Amino acid sequence: MSRNYYMAGNWKMHMTRNDAAQLAQDLVNQLRDGTHKYLVAPSFTLLETVSAVIEGSNIRLGAQNCASEEQGAHTGEVSVLQLKDLGVQTIILGHSERRHVYKEDDALINKKVKLALKHGFEVILCIGELLEEREAGKVEEVCERQTVKGLEGVDVSLLNNVVIAYEPVWAIGTGKTATPQDAEAVHAFVRKVIARLYGDDIASKIIIQYGGSVKADNAAQLMAMENIDGALVGGASLKTDSFIPIAKFQA
Ligand code: 13P
Repeated sequence: MSRNYYMAGNWKMHMTRNDAAQLAQDLVNQLRDGTHKYLVAPSFTLLETVSAVIEGSNIRLGAQNCASEEQGAHTGEVSVLQLKDLGVQTIILGHSERRHVYKEDDALINKKVKLALKHGFEVILCIGELLEEREAGKVEEVCERQTVKGLEGVDVSLLNNVVIAYEPVWAIGTGKTATPQDAEAVHAFVRKVIARLYGDDIASKIIIQYGGSVKADNAAQLMAMENIDGALVGGASLKTDSFIPIAKFQA
């Protein structure tokens, strides 16, 4: 496969500066000889600390969200300009916790995607269905809508900065992983959607990560599927011992 695996840790709302610096340092040391692409996405308050630790390493710095406006009177929000200032390279957008707990809709996510890309960030656009949507046979409908609306108005020239993460909501933090075959079917479908929107060449190059209870003992089987190009890891990314075997899985 010509696509390089992209292994990312979404630390969500965990840790304070000391543990974050320690984890980041352990990852720098242990991933130094890793052959995949790597990212950690800590909370906003940890970005400066983690940025200093991973500077010059092969680990990218990600944020978990950004404001939909560039700057101004937006109490409690964090701007792309502020993220850039801290060395953030990638922004995770449309995570299911943002969509379903904080009620972000496709239009808001699309606004953020366009703003982040305009400022030169790589974007990881998360998509994925709820359990009831899966049970109602709506997996493709939901994933297609979230992909199409999330990328609405995004020029083809920016697609090399777009990564998709398929995270079935029912698999996040539940210990229930999609089977490699079920995940592969959705990944292949999403790649077809990208081909329709942007052409076969872009579709063949775009990285589609899987997320949802990825662990050391299921990572290699998932990554073996043709259209699964990496992982967006939550719980198992919080400890060196659980993340390293995932990040350094052997194809
Ligand atoms: P878990 O790995 O804890 O299921 O979380 C997945 C996730 O939401 C990553 O963004």
